[in-house]
Amino acid sequence: MIKQKILVTGGAGFIGGNFVQYAVNKYPNYDIYNLDLLTYAGDLTKHRVIEQQENYNFIKADISNREEIMAIFKKEKIDYIVHFAAESHVDRSITDPEIFVRTNVIGTQVLLDAAREIGVKKFVHVSTDEVYGELDFDPSSFFTEETPLQPNSPYSASKASSDLLVRAYHETYGLPMNITRCSNNYGPYHFPEKLIPLTISRVLNDQKVPVYGDGNNIRDWLHVYDHCAAIDLVLHEGENGHVYNVGGHNEKTNLEVVQTIIKTLGKSEDLIEFVKDRLGHDKRYAIDPTKLERLGWAPTYTFDTGIAQTIQWYLDNKEWWEQIISGEYKNYFEKQYTLKGN
Ligand code: NAD
Ligand code: TYD
Repeated sequence: MIKQKILVTGGAGFIGGNFVQYAVNKYPNYDIYNLDLLTYAGDLTKHRVIEQQENYNFIKADISNREEIMAIFKKEKIDYIVHFAAESHVDRSITDPEIFVRTNVIGTQVLLDAAREIGVKKFVHVSTDEVYGELDFDPSSFFTEETPLQPNSPYSASKASSDLLVRAYHETYGLPMNITRCSNNYGPYHFPEKLIPLTISRVLNDQKVPVYGDGNNIRDWLHVYDHCAAIDLVLHEGENGHVYNVGGHNEKTNLEVVQTIIKTLGKSEDLIEFVKDRLGHDKRYAIDPTKLERLGWAPTYTFDTGIAQTIQWYLDNKEWWEQIISGEYKNYFEKQYTLKGN
C-alpha cells in the first residue's frame, strides 16, 4: 500500500509538536515528516516517545531557504502540507519585526512555490485570529471568517500577509488549500514566554508574574488537543479554498487566567505585578466557530478542565520547562521585563 506523506512544518514547536504526536499515533498509515529549523522555540526532546516510530521522520531545514525546500519536496514527493512554522510571539515581533517577515511571509511563499511545483493534494495553512485585529468588550461581537483582516502587531501583519499569499495561490494557480484561524492555545509543551506557561513556571518558583496594563484584555483560550483535532478535520474534510475559524468560547481576562493559576497552585496573589502595557495591545479576541462546528468539530475541554490538565502537566514535566528557562530564554526574560520583585 502506498503511504500518504504529510509534511508538518514547525513540528518541533508547541502546536506543531502536539500535532505531530497526534498524527504519528493516529495515522500509522501516513508517513509524517516534521520539518523544523529548531530556532529558540523548537525542541526535539518532546518527541522522545515517538521518534522510534516507523512513520515519524525529522528534517532540519529553513522554510525560507528556497533551494533547500525545493530539493526536499522533490525528493520526498510530499502529498499534504500542514504549515505551522512561524515566529509566533507578539512581544518579539515588537522588538524585532524583520525575522517575522522573513519566516512568516517569505517562508510561506517558498513553501507555496514548492507545493505548486510538485502538485500537493492540499496545503493547510495554520493562521491566527489575530489577523482580524481586535474586538471591543461587547460580549456579543465575534470574529467570523468574513471579518476583514486588520492586523495590529508586526506578528499578526506577517500572518495576514501569509494568509493572503495562500489565498492568492489558490485563486491564481488553483493550489488546493485551507486556512485555519485559531484563538490562543494552551496545553503541554507551550513555550514559557507565553502568558499561561510563563505564569505557571514563575508561580511554581515563587517569582513575580508580569501582567500587562490593567490585566483586563481578553483572550479566547483553546486547548491544543482540541486545535489538533480541528486541523485533522480540516485536512481531511475541509472544503477546498475555505477558511475555518477555531475557538471554543472560553473568554477570560488575563487577570482571571493568572488568578486561576495562582489559586490552583495554592500561592498568593501578591505574586502579581502590573507592568507597562504592551504597545498596540489588542483588547479582545473571540471566535465564532460555527463554520467548523458544521463540519463536525466540537471542543472537548472547557477552560476549567483544560487549565487543570495543563497545570498538572507542568507539575509532572518540570525537567522540560526548567531546561528552557535556564537557557537562552533567561537573557530574553531579563531584556523583556524589569520586575520590581524577583
Ligand atoms: P512556536 O513558536 O511554539 O513554534 C514554531 C516552530 O517553528 C518552532 O519549532 C521553530 O523552530 C519553527 N520555525 C521557526 N522558524 C522556522 C523556519 N524558518 N524554518 C523552519 N522552522 C521554523 O509556535 P506555536 O505557538 O506552536 O504556533 C504554531 C503556528 O500556529 C504558528 O503559525 C502560529 O502563528 C499559529 N498560531 C498559534 C497560536 C498560539 O496560541 N500559540 C494561536 C493561533 C495560531
Ligand atoms: P501571549 O501569551 O503572548 O499571546 P498573544 O499575545 O498572542 O495573545 O499573551 C496573552 C495575553 O497575555 C496578552 O493579552 C498579553 C498578556 N501578557 C501579559 O499580561 N504578561 C505577559 O508576561 C505576557 C507574555 C502576556
